[in-house]
Formats: sequence, structure tokens, C-alpha cells
Amino acid sequence: MSYQTIKTETLGRVGLITLHRPEALNALNAQLIDELGRAARAFDEDDGIGCIVVTGSEKAFAAGADIKEMKDKDYAQVKNEDFITDDWEVLSRLRKPTVAAVAGFALGGGCEIAMMCDILIAADSAKFGQPEIKLGTIPGSGGTQRLTRAVGKAKAMELCLTGRMMDAEEAERAGLVAKVVQADQLLDEAMKTAEAVAGMSLPVAITCKEAVNQAFESTLAEGVHFERRVFHATFALEDRKEGMEAFAAKRKPAWKHR
Ligand code: CAA
Repeated sequence: MSYQTIKTETLGRVGLITLHRPEALNALNAQLIDELGRAARAFDEDDGIGCIVVTGSEKAFAAGADIKEMKDKDYAQVKNEDFITDDWEVLSRLRKPTVAAVAGFALGGGCEIAMMCDILIAADSAKFGQPEIKLGTIPGSGGTQRLTRAVGKAKAMELCLTGRMMDAEEAERAGLVAKVVQADQLLDEAMKTAEAVAGMSLPVAITCKEAVNQAFESTLAEGVHFERRVFHATFALEDRKEGMEAFAAKRKPAWKHR
């Protein structure tokens, strides 16, 4: 498939998607969202892929929804199109684990897209924010919800109401990112993490992702119940047997399902 606003690459069992609209700091226009969705779905459906990495440029992961494309829309249009459309949510609906590798600006929709990924790794140059309020609007692709779940009400409220940017160190302290690395090591680190995940039994990795995500959708008791049931379900897999036998035999597991 050929794309104009993103680049894709298959590196072993990792699918790499690079947002590529350098002239607009990877601002998310309709074409980019469409291409990102198609590429992400294609990797998700590819049996050779175990993990997907989404990254941007050194200067920007993405500076948000394309303001120039959006500025002339009126209420009837956004209502009729259901803008921000469901296409924006594709990354949050993938079965396979995803890693966002963020350098530079991750603002508005850029921050929201990064937060849809399962593991967020930041370069020390990363800057996160939901600056929509400065444009007279509010986040429209999950920012008020996912940021609040990640960093808590106090910081999410302050970030969304002031529109200020948060650097990588603060984002790590607040629990938004898994780790911060030097900018020149970002892709290596993200790839290492993705390769480690892609090296696991795929049905178990998918089950694990579902169980963690359940924590955002249910009460603690419901979540623990869900976890117990899917933990039991792993015992139906040859890979569960293989993993434990390999441990006991002091050898590496040879997963059947990858
Ligand atoms: N939409 C469209 N174009 C954008 C853009 C955006 N979100 N962000 C940057 N650009 C364009 C600029 O207009 C500029 O284009 P020109 O060279 O043609 O003028 C180019 O990218 C480079 O940007 P700057 O010159 O502004 O670069 P800078 O380094 O001086 O500033 C910045 C960087 C602080 C990120 C600044 O560009 C900025 O504030 N961008 C907008 C950030 C924003 O408000 N994002 C939220 C969008 S709304 C949203 O995302 C809604 C939602 O929830 C989905």
C-alpha cells in the first residue's frame, strides 16, 4: 500500500508507522487519519506482526488535529460528520499491543493518539499537552478521559484548562509515560520494547492487554473477576504449558502461537 502522510516498515515481527507531514508538524488531517487507520489495521491483521510502533519526527509526534482543515467547519457539519470521527479511535481498538515513541510535540490530537497506544515511551525532548482551550474548543478524541485516567484529575484538569505543555520528565512522574530516553535513542528503545512484546505468545499478549484495559472499564471486583477468568483461559493454550515447562527445564520457551 502506498501512503502520502505516513511511512510504514516491517522490521521482523514489529510493524513501524511513522507519521510524516513535516510541513505541518504531523498535524492530523483527514488523509493522515485515514492512512494511519488503514496501516494500523493492516499490521493488526498481519500474522507476521506481534507489536506495532507509532512514531513521528524529531520535532513532533503530532501537533494535533489540523487546525486549518477544521477552522471553517460549523456545528451542523461536525454534528453530521460526527467529527472527530471513529477513524481517530482505530489505535485504541487494535488487538495487538502498540507502542507510541514520542519526540517533540504531542499536542491535542497528537497527545490523544499517543495515549491510545498501550505503552508510551518519550524522548527527553517530548512535550505533551491538550491546548484546545486556547483555540476556543476542548479535546475531541479522548483527551479529557484518557489523560485523566493516566495522571489523575488534579493534573488533567490543570493541563486541559490552561493548555500548558508538560515536558517528558513531568509526564513520567505523572504516570503518562512508561519511560523517558535520550532523543537519539528513542526509536531503538521503542523497537527493543516492541520486539520483546512481539517475542511473546501472541494470544497471551493479546489477553494480557485486554486484562489491563479492563481496569479502565470496570469496578475493581469486576476487573479482578475478568482477570481470573482470562488467567484460567491461558491454561487452554499450549503456550502456557510450554512457558512453564521451559522454565522448569531452564530453556527458552518456543512459542507455538506467535
Ligand atoms: N494544525 C495545522 N497546522 C499546524 C498545526 C496544527 N495543529 N500545528 C502546526 N502547524 C503548522 C503551522 O501552521 C506551520 O505551518 P506554516 O509553516 O505553513 O505556517 C508549521 O506547522 C510549523 O508550525 P509553527 O511555525 O507554529 O512551529 P513552532 O515551532 O513555532 O510552534 C507549536 C510549534 C507550538 C506546536 C505550534 O505549531 C502550535 O501551537 N500548534 C498548534 C497546537 C495545537 O493547538 N494543537 C491542538 C489542535 S486541536 C485538536 O487537536 C483537537 C482534538 O482534540 C482532536
